[in-house]
Amino acid sequence: MADNIQAPVITLDGPGGAGKGTLTQLLANHLNWRLLDSGALYRLTALGALKQGVSLDSVPDLVRVASQLDVEFRPSSVGEPPRVFLAGEDVTAELRTEETGRHASSIATIPEVRAALLQRQRDFRQPPGLIADGRDMGTVVFPDAPCKIFLTASVEERARRRFNQLKQQGQDVKLSALLEELKARDEQDMNRATAPLKPADDAVVVDTTGHSIEEVLKIILGVWAEKSST
Ligand code: C5P
Repeated sequence: MADNIQAPVITLDGPGGAGKGTLTQLLANHLNWRLLDSGALYRLTALGALKQGVSLDSVPDLVRVASQLDVEFRPSSVGEPPRVFLAGEDVTAELRTEETGRHASSIATIPEVRAALLQRQRDFRQPPGLIADGRDMGTVVFPDAPCKIFLTASVEERARRRFNQLKQQGQDVKLSALLEELKARDEQDMNRATAPLKPADDAVVVDTTGHSIEEVLKIILGVWAEKSST
């Protein structure tokens, strides 16, 4: 649809714990745009496969699960991430565990799974605009996005943030284990052959180490103001 092609997209790529999720929510609220949490689609595919008893090594089965995902993102209270339903079941908490993240990262190395999720992600691009959170938003899914941000932070700071976030959700986690988990996930995401985690050539790289979320939000809105005025 021509309208969809015209809708602007701000892509937010980067490693886990860089603050993409929170910033995506804040930007979407601020601009009153839609948001795409692409990591959730990989997590849902892994979760859906496991719930159906499908092996995470069976590519045709994974492609079927990815293509047929029956998912609903239900808005919750203001400032809170939406609740996520898979085939009618509330999987919000399960979706966020480190185990699901590890499974998601593993199936995300499979090109056929990525291809099966591509159009579903592009369909989120609708007026008045989209904030797209992921690893390959600026490089593969929305290569023509007018504003691309690549968020980074030291792995120690990212582990600390994840730790606080998961603790708040009542999950029993260890900081040292999270640090190792993030390092392993970075390694897998950056070194896979298809759509590896890296900044697009035209992305603005923002290092969030030592910055508050409010400071980073201001930086990104500044980049968007500049890009949208040229
Ligand atoms: O962002 P989140 O931690 O939810 O992503 C889970 C995993 O899904 C990542 O570690 C990554 O391997 C994969 N992913 C991806 N491409 C995206 C989003 C997530 O490969 N666009």
